[in-house]
Amino acid sequence: MHAASLAAAGVLMLSCAVAAAGPRGDTARLGLPEISAAASRAQVDLGRRLFMDRRLSRNGTMSCGMCHVPEQGFAQNELATSIGVEGRSLRRNAPSVLNSGFNQSYFHDGRARTLEEQAWGPLLAPDEMGNADRATVVGRVAALQDYPDAFRHAFGDAAVSEQRIGVALAAYQRSLVAGGSRFDRWYYGQEEAAMSAEEKRGFVVFRGKAQCNACHELGRTHALFTDEAFHNLGVGIPAAGPEQWLEVRLAPGVTTRIPHALVRSVSEPPRKDEGRFEVTGRPQDRAAYRTPTLRNVELTAPYMHDGSFATLREVVDFYDRGGNPNDNLDRLILPLYLSEQDKQDLVAFMRALTGANVDELARQARAAAAQPATR
Ligand code: HEC
Ligand code: HEC
Repeated sequence: MHAASLAAAGVLMLSCAVAAAGPRGDTARLGLPEISAAASRAQVDLGRRLFMDRRLSRNGTMSCGMCHVPEQGFAQNELATSIGVEGRSLRRNAPSVLNSGFNQSYFHDGRARTLEEQAWGPLLAPDEMGNADRATVVGRVAALQDYPDAFRHAFGDAAVSEQRIGVALAAYQRSLVAGGSRFDRWYYGQEEAAMSAEEKRGFVVFRGKAQCNACHELGRTHALFTDEAFHNLGVGIPAAGPEQWLEVRLAPGVTTRIPHALVRSVSEPPRKDEGRFEVTGRPQDRAAYRTPTLRNVELTAPYMHDGSFATLREVVDFYDRGGNPNDNLDRLILPLYLSEQDKQDLVAFMRALTGANVDELARQARAAAAQPATR
């Protein structure tokens, strides 16, 4: 069969759907492993529309793409922790969904195993998209005039089901492959001039003195910059020490010292977050979070599971001082004694990890959002 007739039959392979060039000459794939996905282009297109469609939330206000904003690295730059339907606040930062097809687990604590399964989390969470149950979502999508054709193209007939919604959203997210960064062209593509001297020095620090690659791994043929494991850096745990205590006056001449975190909790109750421990129940997993990829990281501020760092420089300073010491601190997290130059170079290196096609992926998403929205 010709490629054209395959496409017409709706079975164009994902590798062709993602970029015009074939798998070999496809720059966006440089530096990334093969992705095992036999989704059709029609499934990807359907998933993209669902992803950007606000009508998937209970009151028609929230889409996936409002927390995973295409123009903000498919993350959310404005908010440390997300805000969902009716302004309800979440306890965690929205991670980028770029390259999420390569993950071995999902969410900061790894509680979902597949993208198909993950999608129903936000659709049903009362503080995210707020739907009562899966049947409600299926019924609502089925009632929208503009979807039957898209489902027919993607699956052969127009029936909407919870399984198909999950498959389409997953197919789209697996198509968000964003490699071919300046680093990839230099390191995997042997293009000497693709990175500056500063960025190359940053890579030396990354793998040398700072040992960042112990967790943000890279391999001989590709790099995901994650070991897929969970580590405690102490992020989110109030730092111990005198500065965290407050003198509180109870009565004239009577004062007491209480932890700062406790004072804050009077006005804004802290959202308890125990990280990986919530999934495994193992004490050593307390406050451990999944190592995120560093690809496209310059686009996805603020950083960490709670969005507590605004800039990459703040993150580097945090590692340099040895994280936030606590009972479960990962043994790889130690003071680094980096020079000012090292720190600048490290930040420059991370900025060289932005995919060649991220603007194009954002443009495609935005175009899908603009499609007819007949109710
Ligand atoms: C209200 C904001 C919000 C909405 C709406 C939302 N998400 Fe998310 N998303 C988040 C947050 C916050 C997390 C991290 C949650 C956690 O770790 O517990 C997340 C995590 C994810 C992840 C895991 C990424 C990773 O690397 O682990 C994927 C994939 C994802 N969302 C896809 C979707 C899809 C698909 C939709 C729409 C059906 C959606 N999101 C809607 C905020 C949102
Ligand atoms: C012990 C494993 C480990 C080492 C070593 C390590 N990281 Fe991380 N990194 C993580 C984990 C785990 C997180 C997520 C923590 C969280 O969300 O609370 C993270 C988060 C980050 C983030 C935020 C990414 C985002 O999307 O929010 C950046 C940037 C980062 N690391 C850079 C570095 C740099 C630079 C180094 C070396 C100086 C380094 N890491 C060393 C495990 C590690």
